[in-house]
Amino acid sequence: MNLRKILVTSALPYANGAIHLGHLVEYIQTDLWVRFQKMQGHECWYVCADDTHGTPIMLRAQAEGITPEALIERVSVEHRRDFAGFHIAFDNYYSTHSEETRTQAEEIYARLKQAGLIEIRAIEQYYDPVKAMFLPDRFIKGECPKCGAADQYGDNCEACGAAYAPTDLKNPVSAVSGAKPELRQSEHYFFKLSDPHCQTFLREWTQGGPLQTEAANKMQEWLGELGDNRLTDWDISRDAPYFGFEIPDAPGKYFYVWLDAPVGYMGSFRNLCTRTGLDFDSFWNKDSQAELIHFIGKDILYFHALFWPAMLSHAGYRTPTQIFAHGFLTVDGAKMSKSRGTFITAESYLAQGLNPEWLRYYFAAKLNGSMEDIDLNMNDFTARVNSDLIGKYINIASRCTGFLTKYFEGRLADVQNEIPRAIEHGARIAPLFESRDTARALREIMALADQLNGDIATAAPWVLAKDDTQREALQAICSRALHGFWVLSILLSPVMPVLTSRIARTLFGLPRDFLWNDLATAPDTVLPYQHLMARIDPEQITALLTANRQNLPTPSQEPAMTETTSAISIDDFSKIDLRIARIAEAAHVEGADKLLKLTLDVGELGTKQVFAGIKSAYDPATLVGRLTVMVANLAPRKMKFGMSEGMVLAASASEVPGLFLLSPDTGATPGMKVK
Ligand code: 2FM
Ligand code: ZN
Repeated sequence: MNLRKILVTSALPYANGAIHLGHLVEYIQTDLWVRFQKMQGHECWYVCADDTHGTPIMLRAQAEGITPEALIERVSVEHRRDFAGFHIAFDNYYSTHSEETRTQAEEIYARLKQAGLIEIRAIEQYYDPVKAMFLPDRFIKGECPKCGAADQYGDNCEACGAAYAPTDLKNPVSAVSGAKPELRQSEHYFFKLSDPHCQTFLREWTQGGPLQTEAANKMQEWLGELGDNRLTDWDISRDAPYFGFEIPDAPGKYFYVWLDAPVGYMGSFRNLCTRTGLDFDSFWNKDSQAELIHFIGKDILYFHALFWPAMLSHAGYRTPTQIFAHGFLTVDGAKMSKSRGTFITAESYLAQGLNPEWLRYYFAAKLNGSMEDIDLNMNDFTARVNSDLIGKYINIASRCTGFLTKYFEGRLADVQNEIPRAIEHGARIAPLFESRDTARALREIMALADQLNGDIATAAPWVLAKDDTQREALQAICSRALHGFWVLSILLSPVMPVLTSRIARTLFGLPRDFLWNDLATAPDTVLPYQHLMARIDPEQITALLTANRQNLPTPSQEPAMTETTSAISIDDFSKIDLRIARIAEAAHVEGADKLLKLTLDVGELGTKQVFAGIKSAYDPATLVGRLTVMVANLAPRKMKFGMSEGMVLAASASEVPGLFLLSPDTGATPGMKVK
């Protein structure tokens, strides 16, 4: 076989948010493709990293009162944990905030500059005079210039879909401070994509095979006809304050996060090379024979199919072999939503005790290598996993292994004559994995399981077992069943690596995981059957949705705008029922490091129980009898320790330690409204 040398990446997740099921579509798709290549014996490396730079990360860190470095460090630990939980087997998971990425970005920039492709121009941009920073489009809000809808972002209107420049917005405000932004001039660095060399290169490159047909068509649309000059220069600099890499010889100017993000692929791979002695150049040189494959979501095609190859090519590097874009994930037919509980984090899925391989199987059963969106339908998920994995696949081993161990000391009859067919199945299904049509691969695999189950039902080993004269027939059918299970397990290994590893080792006694080549051999013994996989209990799904509904945003889950103070109306404010409350009881909560349990007397509203995160600042004994202010109409929230029926108000600031409960002036009594 011709052995391939492949470097594979998934998009680098931003370092300010939790990994959710939408992300996992891509990592699962990539991981199973990589595992498939490795099982074939190819040299395949899978690298990724956190995408750590940019304004949202800088502001998020500020809001949390920590440095961006501390933030990205913490998130890195969370991301690695979540990926490991779903068996995403990176060969290296790194960070764009690394020396490798910095050096590489500087080098690429220097070469582009040398090639005359960098230009400096002054541009006019909104500036927040309070925060003393230029505002990215997403941090400016105002009224849509087209339809007048309020509270729209600076780049497009969610109400009417119009796209525009932030300067077109009516009554713009900074979403960071609430201030009225001012237009200011500043010098920006541009990558001259409009240069005829770039246009010509991209026109050829995008149509030369690295993209899916639909993506290539989209690029054609974006590029227009020769001479249309649709591509405008790309603004690759941002002004301080910015968390990123400062541009060499340009104090106060930073590389825009999207410049160093894809360079992070190289940075992560460089780091892997340093650790393992792999040869970086043989993967990235212009004449490299290795394949370079990027898995991405369709929303970032523009960056990967235009900017990135243009950067690489004009800096003297090879360009990607393939860019594989996938669609978005919907849950129960709709966009993931926090209020419906369908914005499901990887962490919460695992915390509910759901098996990650169920989701790997389900996503694989939906993905077909196209850019279509896929839907996670919760009922279908439960039904599909239970019927395919448990009812069809696991069932074969759980029904037939016992007869072999009981009557034949685990010995299989000769099944050599089955091998040619197994090889044929492998040869038919391998190209489906290769082309990422895992939906069809799994349909074919389940059709094999159906056939086998049919044969088992016809032969009825449970009937044969009752008759001493039928031992040979019993051994024959159970051996065919177990050989079939061997074949199915090999074919399913990219999708469910942990389950099939256990099957290889504990059922068939192999000292290693399956390889694709194992289709060419057959097992001769089995070990006693041990439980392999449970079915999904629909209650688990209900619990998952409930948990995500209750999951109030923690700092790393909410988009980086929570600390912003955009104006609200008096009506909005009056929705909040603020009341004077007397702390009737205060107690420590066993097992909680931050919470105190307060029983509040709220006059006409009766008593309310509230869990308040003020343990670090107050001894419960000193609180009893004290008056404070509470939010009385907050939806009750079920917490680990009981219901919390409101919230007490306290002041804090990131720069100053401590927490300060509010108190009313003398004369206020429990139940009084605060307005
Ligand atoms: O869209 C995103 O989530 C980006 N963080 C992806 C970056 S991919 C690569 F270019 F780094
Ligand atoms: Zn509009």
